[in-house]
Parts: sequence; C-alpha cells; structure tokens
Amino acid sequence: MNIRESEVQENQIIQQVHLNAFGEPEGTIVSKLAVELLQDETAKPIFSFVAEENNKIVGNVIFSHVKINSKNLNSFILAPLAVTKKFQRKGIGKSLILHGLSFLRNNNANLVFVLGDPKYYSRFGFEAAIPYNLNPPYKIPDPEAWMVINLSSNSISSYQGIVECGTSLNSEEYW
Ligand SMILES: CC(C)(COP(=O)(O)OP(=O)(O)OC[C@H]1O[C@@H](n2cnc3c(N)ncnc32)[C@H](O)[C@@H]1OP(=O)(O)O)[C@@H](O)C(=O)NCCC(=O)NCCS
Repeated sequence: MNIRESEVQENQIIQQVHLNAFGEPEGTIVSKLAVELLQDETAKPIFSFVAEENNKIVGNVIFSHVKINSKNLNSFILAPLAVTKKFQRKGIGKSLILHGLSFLRNNNANLVFVLGDPKYYSRFGFEAAIPYNLNPPYKIPDPEAWMVINLSSNSISSYQGIVECGTSLNSEEYW
C-alpha cells in the first residue's frame, strides 16, 4: 500500500471511493461533499491523502482547516474518510489517519477534530472534545462522537470555543 497527497485531477476517483465505501443513500451525500470540500476556498489549507493498492486508489481522507472562535489556530477537521468495501479492515483506514496526523504534526498543526465513532477514533488518541469546551458548530445527536486530538505541546485547555469549518462542511445536514 502507498499513501500520498491526492491531485486535482483525481477528484472524480475520490468521489467514487466515497460512494463505494459508504453505500447508498449516504454515499451520494458524502461523495458529493468530498468533491465540494476539495474545491472549497474557505476550507484551505486542505490536505487530501489517498491510499493506493496496485496503483489504484482505494482510500481517501481529507483534512480541512477550521477556525476556533473565529481565530486561525492552525487546526483541522478530519472528514470524510473512506476505504472501498473490498479493501476495508486491512488497516488502510488506520494508515491514512496516522499518515495524515503525522503530516499535520510535522506542519505544526495544533488540534484535529473528527465527528465519528469513538470506538474507532479513540485508537488514534482522539478523545471527546466537548468536556474541553471545544464545541461543534451545530448540536449533534451523540456528543461523544465529536472528538479532538492535540498535536501541539500546548495544554489543550489553552484552546476553547466553537469550531467553524469551511462552507461546504458547515451545513447542518452533516452534523
Ligand atoms: C471506517 C473505515 C474508513 C475504516 O477503514 P478500514 O481500512 O476498514 O479500517 P482499519 O482496517 O484501519 O480498521 C479496522 C478496524 O476498525 C474497526 N472499524 C472499522 N470501521 C469502524 C466503525 N465505523 N466503527 C467502529 N469500528 C470500526 C473494525 O472493527 C476493525 O477492527 P477489527 O479488525 O479489530 O475488528 C472504512 O471501514 C469505511 O470506509 N467505512 C465506510 C465509511 C465510513 O464509515 N467512514 C467513516 C467516517 S467517520
């Protein structure tokens, strides 16, 4: 398996990866979101990584910039993440996450947020964000699913507020 940053001309392949991974009906929504996010000027900087097996893209993760209480604190949100059905449960999702976090850490990123299954993301060091007063832009059904990892050497308590995503992610239907 090889992991690298994606290229602009690969957006359609990435769309197909999300469509396949999530299945219908969610796949249509998430795959459209992935492509919109990759072109979202308000979400920059954006880092998108693909996983390849035999030169074929089988996984994708996107990290896009967020503000906290309108401040630019070099923080990101991980969304969406997908591995095509045939290649799931082989460690590709894990490798994409670890590669992305390592890249962001090397680029002095501070916090990374995710809205996802706590059982999965806690494996990588994500923990519930709301107890730290780091709140999502919308009220979410499962507060435990809103998670954060601190990549900086600062105390996490030095960051507090409401997280604001780029326009494409900032739609209530996704939360
Ligand atoms: C979630 C996903 C990205 C994980 O990628 P993957 O390459 O299959 O995952 P990995 O091989 O790294 O890890 C597999 C482990 O994670 C667990 N796991 C996978 N998806 C999980 C989920 N949604 N919730 C909890 N655990 C999950 C599996 O139980 C497996 O553990 P096990 O092998 O000990 O049983 C992939 O399954 C996928 O694309 N799913 C559909 C889309 C999706 O739900 N995306 C997540 C958006 S937050």
